[in-house]
This record gives sequence, structure tokens and C-alpha cells, in this order.
Amino acid sequence: LVACLQPKVLRGQRVLVTAGPTFEPIDPIRGITNHSSGKMGFAVARAAREAGAEVTLVAGPVHLRTPRSVRRVDVQTAQQMLDAVLAEVETASVFIAAAAVADWRPAQAAERKLKKEGSGPPPALAFVENPDILATVAALPRARRGELYCVGFAAESHDLLAHAQAKRLRKGVPLLVGNIGPDTFGRDDNALLLVDEREAVELPPAPKIALARQLVGEIARRLGHV
Ligand code: CTP
Ligand code: CA
Repeated sequence: LVACLQPKVLRGQRVLVTAGPTFEPIDPIRGITNHSSGKMGFAVARAAREAGAEVTLVAGPVHLRTPRSVRRVDVQTAQQMLDAVLAEVETASVFIAAAAVADWRPAQAAERKLKKEGSGPPPALAFVENPDILATVAALPRARRGELYCVGFAAESHDLLAHAQAKRLRKGVPLLVGNIGPDTFGRDDNALLLVDEREAVELPPAPKIALARQLVGEIARRLGHV
């Protein structure tokens, strides 16, 4: 019931959301990932849908149910996430990057399982940097022209406001959302700090779906739809 009662502040908008971790293979059965549960990104996708938007969710490996009436594209690696996002973003009006994208991947995934036996010393992994999905999208002409509103997330361990503002400028996005509180990964509650060029607004601790609805309201307000 609460879901249907949400004001339709994003009616007519096409919203693209990334969520969850990425998985970067080392060999066919091992890889590098992180503790992102995907809950915040999924909540944002659900809230955007409740607000009347057409929503596509590009998700890394997570154990969550797809929100009702949301189109979901599953990916594993950062490169796949970038490809999926670029395939979808041309028609989107809002891009929300909630995924915890792996910053680095093994330079070369082995084609066959690395074996312990007879291989000598432990393997030394070399890494290369993954593409920055948010920065890539924010640099697209449509984003630069203001036809695609980009929102980033940031989890910082300290100096959240300063880091969030610096990250917002570095990524070239109008709005950056900081996760307040030390360990938000996997939890159902969170608190957020919204940083834009004018102000920093704190959304106090609440369930992630409640925060996601407030965030959607804040985005709609900045789009001039409320
Ligand atoms: N992001 C992304 N692609 C990446 C890395 C990050 O799209 N390869 C996005 C995240 O989804 C998030 C924002 O960028 O919305 C900030 O991610 P974060 O990891 O906090 O920033 P980084 O630039 O990777 O800096 P660092 O991890 O060193 O703090
Ligand atoms: Ca990072």
C-alpha cells in the first residue's frame, strides 16, 4: 500500500541504476569481489519505480529479488557492467551509480584453474584498473548537456563531507550520496549525506527503502519535477 501511495514524481523518466558488487575472475573458479549486498541500489530502483519511472537495474552478483516491474540485467565484471550501462543509458534521463565496482581486476584471468601442486611459489597476481562507469557516463555529451542527471554514491571511512564533495567534483556529477556510518554493507538501515553544488543534506538513520524514497524525492526536486 505504501508503495502505491508514493507521489509519482518521476513519471515519464527513464532511470538506470547500478547495484551490488562486481566479480573479477582470477581463474574459472576464483575471483575478487567485495561485501556489497546490493540492498541500497535495489531499494533505489524500487523507489524510482514507485515514483512512476521506467527503471532498468544493472546488477552484479547479489542474492536479492528483483523489485516489481523493474527490468534487470545481470552482470559479473566491471567491464560487463560498463557495457550493459552504455547499452541502456542512451535513452535514460537519470543514472544512479549505487554499485560497489571493483577498482582493479586481475590483469589476466587464467583460462584453466591455477593448481597448487607442482606450481612452485604462490602465484603473484598483477592488477589493472577497471573503467570508471560513473565518470564515463558523466562525461557523455547528454550528461554534459544536462539531459542525463547522474548520481554517485560513496562509502568513506572518515571525513565524509570533504571526501564526498571532492568525489562529486572528480566524477563530474551534480549529486553525490555518502553512506554515513561505518558498516552499511548488508544492513537494512543506513543514513545518507547528499552533497550537491549548493548544500549538504543529511538523511537520518532509516530503513534503506525509506532513504531511497527520500533520495528519489530529492532527485525529482533537483530535476524540477516537484
Ligand atoms: N564507480 C563506478 N565505477 C568504478 C568505480 C566507482 O561507477 N570503477 C562509482 C560507484 O558506483 C559510486 C562512485 O563511483 O557511485 C564512487 O565510488 P567509490 O568507490 O566511492 O569511488 P572511487 O572513485 O572508486 O574512489 P575510492 O574507491 O578510491 O574512494
Ligand atoms: Ca572504489
